[in-house]
Amino acid sequence: MSENQDQKLYLPSDAAVKAARISGMAAYDRLVAEAAQDYTGYWARLARELISWKKPFTQVLDESQAPFFKWFADGTLNASYNCLDRNIERGLGDKTALIFEADDGAVTRTSYSQLLARTCQIANGLKALGVRKGDRVIIYISMSVDGVAAMQACARIGATHSVVFGGFSAQSLRDRIEDTGAVAVITADQQVRGGKNLPLKAIVDEALTLGGCDSVKNVLVVKRTGNDVAMSAGRDRWMSEVVDTQPTTCEPEWVEAEHPLFLLYTSGSTGKPKGVQHSTGGYLLHAALTTSWTFDLQASDVFWCTADIGWVTGHTYIAYGPLALGGTEIVFEGVPTYPDAGRFWKMIQDHKVTIFYTAPTAIRSLIKAAETNEAVHPRKYDLSSLRLLGSVGEPINPAAWEWYHANVGGGRCPIVDTFWQTETGGHMITPLPGATPMVPGSCTLPFPGIQAAIVDETGADVPNGSGGILVVKKPWPSMIRTIWGDGERFKKSYFPPELKGYYLAGDGAIRDAKTTYFTITGRIDDVLNVSGHRMGTMEIESALVSCTELVAEAAVVGRPDDTTGEAICAFVVLKRPRPTGEEAKKIAKTRSGKIMRRLLRSIAKGEPITQDTSTLENPAILDQLAQTN
Ligand code: WT7
Repeated sequence: MSENQDQKLYLPSDAAVKAARISGMAAYDRLVAEAAQDYTGYWARLARELISWKKPFTQVLDESQAPFFKWFADGTLNASYNCLDRNIERGLGDKTALIFEADDGAVTRTSYSQLLARTCQIANGLKALGVRKGDRVIIYISMSVDGVAAMQACARIGATHSVVFGGFSAQSLRDRIEDTGAVAVITADQQVRGGKNLPLKAIVDEALTLGGCDSVKNVLVVKRTGNDVAMSAGRDRWMSEVVDTQPTTCEPEWVEAEHPLFLLYTSGSTGKPKGVQHSTGGYLLHAALTTSWTFDLQASDVFWCTADIGWVTGHTYIAYGPLALGGTEIVFEGVPTYPDAGRFWKMIQDHKVTIFYTAPTAIRSLIKAAETNEAVHPRKYDLSSLRLLGSVGEPINPAAWEWYHANVGGGRCPIVDTFWQTETGGHMITPLPGATPMVPGSCTLPFPGIQAAIVDETGADVPNGSGGILVVKKPWPSMIRTIWGDGERFKKSYFPPELKGYYLAGDGAIRDAKTTYFTITGRIDDVLNVSGHRMGTMEIESALVSCTELVAEAAVVGRPDDTTGEAICAFVVLKRPRPTGEEAKKIAKTRSGKIMRRLLRSIAKGEPITQDTSTLENPAILDQLAQTN
């Protein structure tokens, strides 16, 4: 890899270019041109090449009910058939699909045939319990073979899964159960992370007592630790008892391309989390396509995406994308710092990982650990198997990029800084490893076919070099279809009328005047990104004020943090002990009762106040807040 010092441009090596599927910028340009010339023809070609259809589609894009777009609507397929059976038919039955490493280091390998058999057993078990096409199933489980198989099993019978991250509380779980109207919950007795047993089933039990969960008829419990958990007769069943005796084959339910494959909840700027609804056909196409082009996944690769299946990254780049291509991937139960902060490097060495995809937060915390403890520095491990690195979830600062490149990638591995969102289903702006010259901190150029652009508040293009609002001008196959049960909120959130029908990502961005590369400058709404996790400021505020005993008012803003990217900064007015001065009774609210978040943000960052404060109800609060900060 050669480096141009002035522009900090990193070129893929000749070998990387030669080996890659999308080889050189001319190949990238050809794809972009193909999409520009015949947009629907381009996506139709790829959908035919990457996906096996039961009934081939004849329609490509249906815009008649915009922004509720439909892709490949008259085609039918099954996602689990595409990820499992198809690979076996191609002779990959004995190939390792999943290398599972438990928290304690125990390793299990699952072949494609085995994963299909387990998927079919779970699918048959769900059917035996009465779960049908279109039903919603909540999956509340940690990283495991059964977690992936449960997602595939839902897809197999046309049930719509909604995975809830195992770190979420009973209340959050309850909210998602109620909103989806789920008929079943798949969970485990406990989860194991960092050497500790943590509850899962007990949290499900609590969630189900909080009300609004009458739709749930069955709870399936995987035995992970074997420790005692309460089982409610008639409702709760051990997974093994329901599925181990089921047949290992199950005819896939062929669904229409628009059939909802999954719902995944994510934070918005206001109110409750949004149930992002994804399709089957368009979603699976982009999952497979981006795994093929961005990660350049080849037959011999060992791919490791460190995300949890509770996030969209774990959906697209663990449960679906790599499997759709017949890849071999790591599924890791534990945490990067247990038994020590060398865990990732040791696992890359042990499993000869070739493609490694993680978040800037993880990289930054491992840099810190390596600086203080030489034993967990990546140079203490043999990482020579790596050929490609990826980054996702938040902007990667150039210093972390350089460290990742030099110390993990040995200076030879391209880094794909992939910008995307729960709502986009897969990569939107990213380098392609055998084509795009890289600039640390920039996600570079749109994935071929994606019409990303930067506009002002009226939807007009802004010139390169000046920042603006990130939009996508045309619908793409893996886009969010709606917010579950709230089409109006979907329209309002993502297609505001002033933006000419463009998709509003919610991020600010700027294009470089010379390279035209995109750099994401951060959220433009009241959403925080803490360690790559999205959190709505209003959600945190309502959690705080729900402590009615103690909290009178709360306002939440982000402030930059070296490790987590952004940190939560909460301004809280307590009821007890009573505030001393009269002025302490009000946080920075305007006379009409609106919290001036921009102002609090400035205080949190220690910046001088430049905003107009004339509408503040209590201007004296500013000095007080600045002093206590
Ligand atoms: C938000 C989406 C995409 C899967 C994980 C997060 C931020 C994501 C990048 C990147 C700069 C990024 C954006 C985006 N983000 N990737 N490469 N560079 N920012 O999914 O929870 O839906 O969050 O994460 O702010 O809007 P998510």
